[in-house]
Amino acid sequence: MDKETAHQRIFELRKTIEYHNTRYYQQDAPEISDADYDRLMKELQNMEALYPDDEMASSPTQRVGAAPLSKFAPFTHPQPMLSLANAFGADEIRDFDSRVRRLAKADRVDYVAEPKLDGLAVNLIYENGIFRRGATRGDGAVGEDVTQNLKTIASLPLRMKTGAFHPVPELIEVRGEVYMEKEPFEKLNLRRAEEGEAPFANPRNAAAGSLRQLDSKITARRPLNIFLYGIGSARSAAFTSHWEIIETLAAWGFPVNPLIRQTPDIDACIAYFEEIGSIRSGLPYDIDGVVLKVNLLEIQNLLGSVSRSPRWALACKFPAQQASTVIQDIIVQVGRTGTLTPVAVMEPVNVGGVLVSRATLHNEDEILKKDIRIGDAVLIQRAGDVIPEVVSVIVSKRTGREKEFRMPGACPECGSEIVRQADEAAHRCINLSCPAQLKEHIRHFASRGAMDIEGLGEKLSAQLFDAKVITDPADLYFLTKEQLLRLDRQAEKSVENLLEAIERSRTPALDKFIFALGIRHVGERTAKLLAGHFGSLEALMSAGCEELTSIHEIGPEIAQSILEFFAESKNRTVLEKFRQAGLSPRTTAPTALASLKGKSFVFTGSLASMGRNEAKAAVESLGGVVHSSVTGKTSYVVAGSDPGSKLEKAGKQNIPVIGEEEFLTMIGRQIHRQA
Ligand code: IVH
Repeated sequence: MDKETAHQRIFELRKTIEYHNTRYYQQDAPEISDADYDRLMKELQNMEALYPDDEMASSPTQRVGAAPLSKFAPFTHPQPMLSLANAFGADEIRDFDSRVRRLAKADRVDYVAEPKLDGLAVNLIYENGIFRRGATRGDGAVGEDVTQNLKTIASLPLRMKTGAFHPVPELIEVRGEVYMEKEPFEKLNLRRAEEGEAPFANPRNAAAGSLRQLDSKITARRPLNIFLYGIGSARSAAFTSHWEIIETLAAWGFPVNPLIRQTPDIDACIAYFEEIGSIRSGLPYDIDGVVLKVNLLEIQNLLGSVSRSPRWALACKFPAQQASTVIQDIIVQVGRTGTLTPVAVMEPVNVGGVLVSRATLHNEDEILKKDIRIGDAVLIQRAGDVIPEVVSVIVSKRTGREKEFRMPGACPECGSEIVRQADEAAHRCINLSCPAQLKEHIRHFASRGAMDIEGLGEKLSAQLFDAKVITDPADLYFLTKEQLLRLDRQAEKSVENLLEAIERSRTPALDKFIFALGIRHVGERTAKLLAGHFGSLEALMSAGCEELTSIHEIGPEIAQSILEFFAESKNRTVLEKFRQAGLSPRTTAPTALASLKGKSFVFTGSLASMGRNEAKAAVESLGGVVHSSVTGKTSYVVAGSDPGSKLEKAGKQNIPVIGEEEFLTMIGRQIHRQA
């Protein structure tokens, strides 16, 4: 075959395969058999190997065919992926608008209103118009590299279109939502039922489960879709409004939700919220609200963000979905910190597409306040992700046979004493060796946001503990193959995998390790702050109350809990065991860490990319301090727009003054532009 004929054939094959992809994945109406499809694909693969060309990167052959992975690589988002502040109802939407207008000093602000898809957020990197890498949101800073899986999504362009008003930039991060439509979701579940596999609870879980497949061939068979709604960093594209970004994304060939609207003011936004709410059930996909975004980027930048949510955007959530059912029993669960949580066991009921059979009752006071009894008919609700809860008892349905609930006097797991501190709603088992707590503790230690020991979930944690091979998380690092093989249901391969996973966790990031310790009130974010401030476990362990509370966001209650944790001799013993096991946490960000130690900052004027609190938190997370007035000891005065008299004072005292850009460089960030 001559070269020209070959390229002609390659061109035809690509077009034909794209056509069949659309028939199969988007329209669910294949025209050819899988075998015929595979033949076309094979032919194209062979031809491309013989006659490579410039269009390879966007060829359908790139969508499938990668070998399965053993684990996803972590992916650090060039610009962090923020989350959204929530509002329920028109009043809260108006409050948001008032705040925006006050800060922007404007009588009226226009917005872009978008459906809030219930899928999972992803970040896509395009270099010179070619899709290179893509990742899940993860914790906002680091996600999982799911490039191969994203490539299987037929509606995701592998190559951006040219010809838009804005040229294709050298590098751009495009953000959007991967989701599954309701109908293909139902079909997928039917197929799974036939094949004896557990159905997915809802389209969102199905989308997340499918995108997080290690074998992209499995993902390719799942009916995933994507809508794009924003950009992170874009080196060479200058936009003035979010609407312009939305239009340009569409012109570049990205699927953009056709229901996105430009709205002139907040009244139009509320009307949009109500309109979308009324057509919601008829949409082919699940949404849980609408998102409002300030249209002008200049105002977005002026507003900046606080605690990981931009102040220029708002998620307006639809009212929670409710259903009624009957409480069959109330059981008590013992958590990691000994807290007893009463849980309602109910007749399973469908709430907005999810089968619910348990609801948290929080604590005894809550049960008394709502007068919830065993046997009661109740109204329950589920809002977004949160655990379902009981809204109220349907008193008219009482028969008189309902039973009142009493908190047990002793721990249901270990029989030890239960205490309730005067200032707390929770009952607590105070036995540090309570098996329920220890098992929960081990499970937490191994969990994803903590040490991420794959395969060590609730069941195995309990099994290891019950078989007495481990009593605390440090014992994990002394486990032997022989010990594990003696356990029930443990085959050679799974034992090897577990040991490998444990081995991989030997040099955890410091923040993950601190979080994994399970100190009361120390969640992932606090753990990050502590790791950033102290840099090592030893430094944290020897910190006093004053140093702890000097960290922004750490109050006396958290500080107390940390001090108590390290003072407890049982915990010290476990920490010593970790040391003997050779576990050595690495610092989170070795280069940036504590890079501002000993430096003090004073801010004057306003920063375009973030508020004062965020700037303060950033300085403190790097070991620096922020003061409100300039003294001889001030290291830098950061001058934003409209600086005050502090600037003069700095000049008089010869204190270096830096601008916003220089400040952002110091804290390791670029100017925010994100949607
Ligand atoms: S904007 C800073 N737009 O909602 C702005 N998010 O809580 C961040 N989502 O993780 C996101 N539809 O998964 C945005 N039209 C939309 C959205 C949307 C769904 C999800 C997304 C994000 C979460 C934010």
